[in-house]
Amino acid sequence: MIWTKDPTRLMLVASLAISYALVCLAPYLRTRRKRAAAQRARAEAAATPGWIVAYASQTGNAEQLAAQTLATLRLAGIAAQMSELSELRADDLQRAERILFLVSTYGEGDAPDAAAAFAGRLMTDSLALPRLHYAVLALGDSAYGQFCGFGRALDQWLQAQGAQSLFPRIEVNRSSAEAIGAWRQQLSHLAGTSDAPDWSAPAFADWRLAERRLLNPGSAGAPLYHLELEPLDGALPAWESGDLVQVSAPSDPERAREYSIASMPADGRVQLLVRLHTHADGSHGAASGWLTRQAALGQAVQLRLRQHRRFRLEDNAQRPLILIGNGSGIAGLRGHLKARTASGRARNWLLFGERNEAHDYHYRDELAAWQLHASLEKLDMVFSRDQPARRYVQDSLAEQADEVRAWVAAGAAIYVCGSLDGMAAGVDAALAAALGRDALDQLAAAGRYRRDVY
Ligand SMILES: Cc1cc2nc3c(=O)[nH]c(=O)nc-3n(C[C@H](O)[C@H](O)[C@H](O)COP(=O)(O)OP(=O)(O)OC[C@H]3O[C@@H](n4cnc5c(N)ncnc54)[C@H](O)[C@@H]3O)c2cc1C
Ligand SMILES: Cc1cc2nc3c(=O)[nH]c(=O)nc-3n(C[C@H](O)[C@H](O)[C@H](O)COP(=O)(O)O)c2cc1C
Repeated sequence: MIWTKDPTRLMLVASLAISYALVCLAPYLRTRRKRAAAQRARAEAAATPGWIVAYASQTGNAEQLAAQTLATLRLAGIAAQMSELSELRADDLQRAERILFLVSTYGEGDAPDAAAAFAGRLMTDSLALPRLHYAVLALGDSAYGQFCGFGRALDQWLQAQGAQSLFPRIEVNRSSAEAIGAWRQQLSHLAGTSDAPDWSAPAFADWRLAERRLLNPGSAGAPLYHLELEPLDGALPAWESGDLVQVSAPSDPERAREYSIASMPADGRVQLLVRLHTHADGSHGAASGWLTRQAALGQAVQLRLRQHRRFRLEDNAQRPLILIGNGSGIAGLRGHLKARTASGRARNWLLFGERNEAHDYHYRDELAAWQLHASLEKLDMVFSRDQPARRYVQDSLAEQADEVRAWVAAGAAIYVCGSLDGMAAGVDAALAAALGRDALDQLAAAGRYRRDVY
């Protein structure tokens, strides 16, 4: 070809070719640069997380408010993640710039069960947290001596580590709508949005009191009733074993009372076990008196279902279960035993305490049938007053420490339902003696030690 011999032409063609190549390559290079920048931003975002919404909850109030807090932040375009308090490590606290803590108080001023390890592991140490900005929503009930005890302790500890509070701690007495409104307002202000989603709790509905049966005639203890309820209108809503209902009593509609559900949806009704509470002056408790004495059969009761995630089977559905309880606590355990029987899971050990075999052996025939059909592998009924020396469920546990260790080594999860006074603390001590306190805390943090105690 002629033109290839002409150096000027050659140069011209070469430079045209290079320019053309550059024009073609430019979009590709731009895309590559953009991709690299996005990758860098993602890596930086992972290294410095946005906001963290951390919660510690026993029966789900704080967890639900945490989910609503997270939704509000995300709606405002803020990158946020939700985490159970026990999942936070020291370096998460040190790296984070903003954490919103929503925590309730249990026992006598204690952390909820799942946060016991956090309280024991981190809050006993000092940790420099100069970067951290935080806020605390503390849930509690002023009827208890240590009102919002854990929320207050957490706030004080954070301050002592040099963390900066975004606004003063907000304390919520008995789910006070006013205090929750104040938290929502602070949140909208921080997030720069007035567009917060609806936080109102689901409404109560009318349920018909369909059956009521005294379970313990002649008992030395207070009367205990088996109740059955069905929705007045519409279909039975879904629930899982471990869930609760809230009942609003006509004489105290401001303060709903909680009851463990003792049935499964397949039973067609919500079944409850309610102990009649009598005050020192002889008057009856607002909710238990209403449910067991005042409300007539067929009458409407204001009720709503409440998920109780911390007491559900969830990941433990495949594990052996040790179910421990006393008194009305058989309600929550019966729900689990029904679910286990329905799913064909037979490795269940029930340890249950009451006063006298003659009057207080609740659901005796049902338990016997479950034993016969092998859905209840091991049953220990402990009657405290049937022998000269008092004997409780925790005594039986202590005597069977080897068996407890063997079940836990085989992967068992432990569920405790019933009295906080006496039973829950005694059972906790017996379990800690059998397994070691650290191991028990780890089981709680892993969701393998769950309690519904009141
Ligand atoms: C998670 C959970 C599950 C539960 N499950 C069951 C169950 O399955 N079965 C069951 O029988 N019970 C259960 N309970 C207990 C139940 O919710 C009620 O507390 C119980 O029935 C007593 O309520 P009451 O309205 O009859 O008595 P109340 O009228 O509430 O009186 C009970 C006591 O509460 C105190 N009290 C009441 N009102 C106030 C007030 N305004 N200020 C200060 N102190 C006050 C008093 O000390 C009083 O003696 C559960 C509780 C929780 C938290
Ligand atoms: C057995 C029991 C013990 C409690 N102890 C306390 C307490 O010591 N101090 C307090 O302020 N509130 C106490 N409360 C009230 C709870 O903190 C309150 O009901 C809170 O809303 C529960 O939130 P949660 O569902 O997230 O756990 C207790 C409640 C129960 C049922």
